[in-house]
Amino acid sequence: MKILGIETSCDETAAAIVEDGTKVLSNVIASSIDLYKETGGVVPEVAAREHIRQISPVIDKALSDAKVSWQDIDAIAVTHAPGLIASLLIGVNTAQTLAYIYKKPLIPVHHVAAHIYANWLDRENENLEFRVLSLEFPILVLTISGGHNELVLMKGHHDFQVIGETLDDAAGEAFDKVARLLNLGFPGGPVISKRAEKGDPSAFDFPRVMLYEKNKSHFTKTSPDKYNFSFSGLKSAVLREVQLESADNNPRPTEKTINNICASFQSAVIDVLADKLVMAADQYNVKSVHLAGGVSANQLLRKTVRERLPSNIELLWPEKMIYCTDNAAMVASAAFFCPKKDIDAKSVKVNSQMKL
Ligand code: KG4
Ligand code: ZN
Repeated sequence: MKILGIETSCDETAAAIVEDGTKVLSNVIASSIDLYKETGGVVPEVAAREHIRQISPVIDKALSDAKVSWQDIDAIAVTHAPGLIASLLIGVNTAQTLAYIYKKPLIPVHHVAAHIYANWLDRENENLEFRVLSLEFPILVLTISGGHNELVLMKGHHDFQVIGETLDDAAGEAFDKVARLLNLGFPGGPVISKRAEKGDPSAFDFPRVMLYEKNKSHFTKTSPDKYNFSFSGLKSAVLREVQLESADNNPRPTEKTINNICASFQSAVIDVLADKLVMAADQYNVKSVHLAGGVSANQLLRKTVRERLPSNIELLWPEKMIYCTDNAAMVASAAFFCPKKDIDAKSVKVNSQMKL
């Protein structure tokens, strides 16, 4: 079954064709990210205008790259929630129009579910496709991106239980905001992780907000917030440090100090993410843990989680870097595994806030 996926929830205009949920035949992404270097974050109105410009050529290219015609497409899938409302509307309206013209079913996909299914894409190179398809549920997924930060217990296909979420900033948002404080541009994750390689992670003792009591000899596992996250205090701690370091007529911290701040900040975020992930994997007795979303591209996070998880638990992250951040192949994959596919295109509604 070949599905055309469309993704426009934030700043990427993306279209892809995926066969049977795993085989990526094409994956086209046009990003307006370069327009936000100065603002340090996406400007919704600008993103929406760029989607209008890009959506038709991107879909045409997805079809031609995959060497398929409309007749070969079995269904269209589109991200309908959550995200920037004007951006979502352009993707959904385009998908509805195409579904009507070409008489295809339209499958609405939640953006976080799509990130989760990025782990099903393109596994055939390592002979992993079979393993991914036969993975034993429940799977524990950490979805970490600019807009989302959740711990999800996946009990079956599209059967999600959110066991933890952020109370304020998402991990990727914290990376982006710290990069803005340090004048490092946007998005923050890639540049901070690069600068962190040259810095000392113990140079600054930034807070690790665990939201549960961690005693010397045991965990108190009863806190209702134990799987929730909070990164806004960490962001404020970095801001205070930057202000201190920039005092005394220094316009900004030295390059060495910036590297040390990046390394110490990154290490604090990863400590919290890995701690909660490992604790939940133990409590829910899962055989397999997945990382998903833009921050799952972070190499130190992958290494730290692998080291802290028991070796009998399988750890997966998206096969290619491009599947960590926003793309439409993951949307098509999520739609393939969706139990209900005969959806009336007119009934698909946009929802900017909808939870998983
Ligand atoms: O999934 P995504 O493309 O968009 C959202 O759904 O938000 O994720 C983008 C986020 C940005 O916040 C970016 O800073 C972060 O992913 N990111 C990273 C890395 N690469 C991207 N964060 C940490 N380390 C990275 N290597
Ligand atoms: Zn995303």
